[in-house]
Amino acid sequence: MAPATQFWDKIAEKYAKQPIADEAAYQKKLAVTRDYFRPDMEVLEIGCGTGSTAILHAPYVKHIRAIDFSAAMIAIAQGKAEAEHIDNVTFEQATIEDIDSPDQSLDAVLGLSILHLLRDKEVAMARVYQMLKPGGIFVTSTACLGDTMGWFKIIAPLGRFLGFFPFVAVFTAQELANSLTQAGFELDYQWQPGKGKAVFIVAKKPE
Ligand SMILES: C[S@@+](CC[C@H](N)C(=O)[O-])C[C@H]1O[C@@H](n2cnc3c(N)ncnc32)[C@H](O)[C@@H]1O
Repeated sequence: MAPATQFWDKIAEKYAKQPIADEAAYQKKLAVTRDYFRPDMEVLEIGCGTGSTAILHAPYVKHIRAIDFSAAMIAIAQGKAEAEHIDNVTFEQATIEDIDSPDQSLDAVLGLSILHLLRDKEVAMARVYQMLKPGGIFVTSTACLGDTMGWFKIIAPLGRFLGFFPFVAVFTAQELANSLTQAGFELDYQWQPGKGKAVFIVAKKPE
């Protein structure tokens, strides 16, 4: 098992119990996302964690395939979906780097609190772009530590070695936006609830 997976497996139970840090911002992100949704949409969520967001969005689209490489996160997500009788979300243990959805098959991809955890977010963005239909959207919410916590880069290797946190990439909101546009996306919506908070972006693959 890869160490990164172990980190998330270990904290899955605790993560599931954690309250949402900023409920108002979370609700706004849900609402903005739903403005883009249509009942016939095929959606992929990458790094879905314990599945709460996929379950909340389920009534607004046709189907959500929600993946996460942590077996413990997926087990919790499947348990929640079963308890809530949600039958249009498929939770699956899979790695973002190996996603196999056909090109131009998806209407929307959700990547929430995940891009900063990837070693190569540009590769993931390029793959998401390929899998989206023209006009499809990539909804992201991303910690941009480069704006307020550039020093994190210095302590990151030690924290990772001690198992305190997983790999975390440090980049600014502007760098994130640049990466998305370089991948071919148009930025349709951008919002940051406050200084140091995750940057929420809806990026569109041009028609
Ligand atoms: C910070 S949590 C975010 C979970 C959820 N999206 C949310 O907003 O609550 C990051 C999740 O991404 C998963 N993850 C990290 N790297 C991944 C990768 N390369 N492939 C698949 N899942 C990954 C972790 O297991 C974890 O559940």
